[in-house]
Amino acid sequence: KVHTVAVLVGSLRKESINRKIAKALAELAPASLDLRIVEIRDLPLYDEDIDNDTPPAAYGTFRSALKDADAYLFVTPEYNRSIPGALKNAIDVASRPYGKSAFGHGKPGAVVSASPGAIGGFGANHQLRQALVFLDVPLLQQPEAYLGGAGKFFDESGELGDSVKPFLQKFIDAFAAWVTLNAKD
Ligand code: FNR
Repeated sequence: KVHTVAVLVGSLRKESINRKIAKALAELAPASLDLRIVEIRDLPLYDEDIDNDTPPAAYGTFRSALKDADAYLFVTPEYNRSIPGALKNAIDVASRPYGKSAFGHGKPGAVVSASPGAIGGFGANHQLRQALVFLDVPLLQQPEAYLGGAGKFFDESGELGDSVKPFLQKFIDAFAAWVTLNAKD
């Protein structure tokens, strides 16, 4: 069976390194995984009042895309040692209405963080894990993916260099095994 993976990218910028990594992972993924980026840009800031009264169409589209997926992959930068606000907002939107989380219960996930800096987004990676424990998304433990020095991963033409490719391959293969083990169908 092919399992679909909703990929959430924590950066909104056009030339995002994290978006490029997400696309590279989609290409390296084995045939058992179908990775699709689900956009978070147009989600209004979560407000329980508007969600109760007139939920924005963007909330519905986003929640449906997550519900339809078999698994979740988060690829994110670190902002001020923490989760970028846009990604946290997307997770908050997905988590509601209370008791009806779009992540469901127990569907598998994984977290990748990347930064041009040396720490590789460790802070964002683990803060994301904190929320996903509560949201019942069992996360791949190993290999951990704190990708430091990520400014050098892609050349001028956007081609992924050889330095990081083997690790991304190992990571996505491990994730595919994790999804096979934990997927609900
Ligand atoms: C950053 N950046 C950053 N990097 C890091 O390693 N730790 C951090 O805490 C921060 N903080 C931070 C805050 C804000 C508001 C911005 C805009 C940036 C730098 C960041 O890693 C860099 O801009 C990456 O290139 C962002 O990822 P994308 O957009 O290339 O995917």
